[in-house]
Amino acid sequence: MSILSLRDVTLTIEQQHILRGVTFDVEQGEVIGLIGPNGSGKTTLFNVLSGFLPPTRGTVHFKGADITRFSPTERSRIGIGRVFQNFGIFREMTLEENVLVALEALPREQREVLGDLRKAVHATLALVGLEQHAKRKAGALSGGQMRLLEIARTLKSGKELFLLDEPTAGVSPKMTQDVATLIRTLKENGKTVLIVEHDLPFIARICDRVIAMDLGAIVVTGTPAQVKQSKELREMYFGADPTT
Ligand SMILES: Nc1ncnc2c1ncn2[C@@H]1O[C@H](COP(=O)(O)OP(=O)(O)OP(=O)(O)O)[C@@H](O)[C@H]1O
Ligand SMILES: [Mg+2]
Repeated sequence: MSILSLRDVTLTIEQQHILRGVTFDVEQGEVIGLIGPNGSGKTTLFNVLSGFLPPTRGTVHFKGADITRFSPTERSRIGIGRVFQNFGIFREMTLEENVLVALEALPREQREVLGDLRKAVHATLALVGLEQHAKRKAGALSGGQMRLLEIARTLKSGKELFLLDEPTAGVSPKMTQDVATLIRTLKENGKTVLIVEHDLPFIARICDRVIAMDLGAIVVTGTPAQVKQSKELREMYFGADPTT
């Protein structure tokens, strides 16, 4: 059974067709890259998956349950984690405190699994190589480091499906490498990742499968190599090929 199934997910706002019949399945442990030109509907699709926008038509199933009408909070509780861009980081608090408030907010069963919270905080920071900055204020971090902190917090939240929207935007090459390593760690732990990225070489490196969208619809899907060589991708980014 697929962990995530979308069927005919369609979103029309004021006669604008923003998502058109999006249908795909994701297996547990897969890393899927969602690509497409600006305005093709990638972030909107994440908004539908995390429950911020109800689709006009179609269904979303997660672990076999129909979650189409679930609220963002309900989705978060059943294991869907969305990493926002530098959102939810308290800049005036230290890194340690930032992680602690996130862990303290977990449901009790999940918190108990973590054991000693102070140790869990440090383990979380170590995961993304930020432990030496534990006592620094989050506001002093670079954009890339903040992104890692945000990913690390979501990572520890007992989620099973991660939605990452442009995690490497504005991030240094070294930090991009850290994000790639982090995603591999997620996969090794059986987690499922959906990642929106404009950096195609990055997508090719870390993804099992790529879904390319244009104008709110899926135009091509396959392994990174298949998609890279597809006529659809070339047309999407460079316009129609006059020789065909
Ligand atoms: N709530 C909304 N109301 C009206 N139009 C919207 C809404 N949300 C998104 N759109 C429109 O839907 C289209 C898709 O936008 P979206 O942000 O999903 O694209 P994207 O693929 O994430 O682009 P980018 O790569 O630039 O981030 C755009 O034309 C946008 O203006
Ligand atoms: Mg977007």
